[in-house]
Amino acid sequence: MLQFELLKTEGHARRGRLTLNHGVVETPIFMPVGTYGTVKGVMPASLEDMGAQIILGNTFHLWMRPGREVMQSFGGLHAFEQWHKPILTDSGGFQVWSLGAMRKITEEGVHFASPVNGDKLFMSPEVSMQIQTGLNSDIVMQLDECTPYETNGHLTTEAEARKSMEMSRRWAVRSKDEFARLENPNALFGIVQGGMFEHLRQESLEALVEMDFPGYAIGGVSVGEPKEQMLQIMAHTPHRLPAHKPRYLMGVGTPEDLVEGVACGVDMFDCVMPTRNARNGTLFTRFGDLKIRNARHKTDHQPLDSTCTCYACAGKSGVSWDDGGRDGFSRAYLHHLDRCGEMLSPMLATVHNLHYYLNLMREVREALDAGRFEAFRTQFKADRARGI
Ligand code: GUN
Ligand code: ZN
Repeated sequence: MLQFELLKTEGHARRGRLTLNHGVVETPIFMPVGTYGTVKGVMPASLEDMGAQIILGNTFHLWMRPGREVMQSFGGLHAFEQWHKPILTDSGGFQVWSLGAMRKITEEGVHFASPVNGDKLFMSPEVSMQIQTGLNSDIVMQLDECTPYETNGHLTTEAEARKSMEMSRRWAVRSKDEFARLENPNALFGIVQGGMFEHLRQESLEALVEMDFPGYAIGGVSVGEPKEQMLQIMAHTPHRLPAHKPRYLMGVGTPEDLVEGVACGVDMFDCVMPTRNARNGTLFTRFGDLKIRNARHKTDHQPLDSTCTCYACAGKSGVSWDDGGRDGFSRAYLHHLDRCGEMLSPMLATVHNLHYYLNLMREVREALDAGRFEAFRTQFKADRARGI
């Protein structure tokens, strides 16, 4: 089941409420990525404390390990990973595609060798729906082919992008049929493709809208294209999708991309950036990005972000440095942990970055509720450009 209520709009930007089998999601929302059934380094209780409302899982990875039988014996992913709020699973299309030379894509599906043990495996729209049904994820994604930005060393041509988009469209039909046959009680999203060609995206969108999915994603973005092209797709596609259904921009992006995405009418985002960058020592703050490995932090008593109320910046009290709290960890301590390769280093960094992303979306929702999203967007850009 899926219900989507549109609460407020400002330009193309929308404030909404999504009701799924495992709970309610206030939109716009950022969804932390939990590829292998864990958001790397974060306990589910911490995710809840940070205000995460829905997280991702990956069909492909969970199929490789632990495999379908284990997951099914738990009745799905929620009980297995002990996360009882909504889960969205990606179909495996993007992940199989990322295998590169290791796979062969045909009309029927994708043949590939398991990167874990070399077994010959086959992923099709039907197989993807069967696995995702076993996972009991609240939002199931159709199997698609993510059209690459470059093909064989040249920019993907219109003919190549069309061929790919048309196959994704046929896979959407097969995904929908199999999802229905399995009597899956959750919601299936279609994925708009079309590469960098607006008329192909328009065709893809119209065909999927005709099929009447409960929600729509925009795929094939953030695949190595220049930023202007990504912004061009964001300006083109989201607002053309049905107003009364949720819109999900896959795999995007930076904090700036999220705010621009909301302005373009996107409701849902996911990206590995906050979690992956945390593990590489790049921290997001209100006033720009901070590299904790930089020697200038060695003796600095300030928290990462003086306005942040996360456990890393504000400790157990949850009172930010700016509000007089002094319970958080200093930049000097985080720099030290990183230098020593301590486990707590990526853990605290991940908590902070995810809190930053989730809080940014909370501020976006509050701004939309108050009818001042445009003012918020201007202030946000100025703050981030200031530098830290
Ligand atoms: N994640 C990021 N982009 C994509 C895409 O185009 N398709 C799928 N299935 N997942 C994605
Ligand atoms: Zn913080």
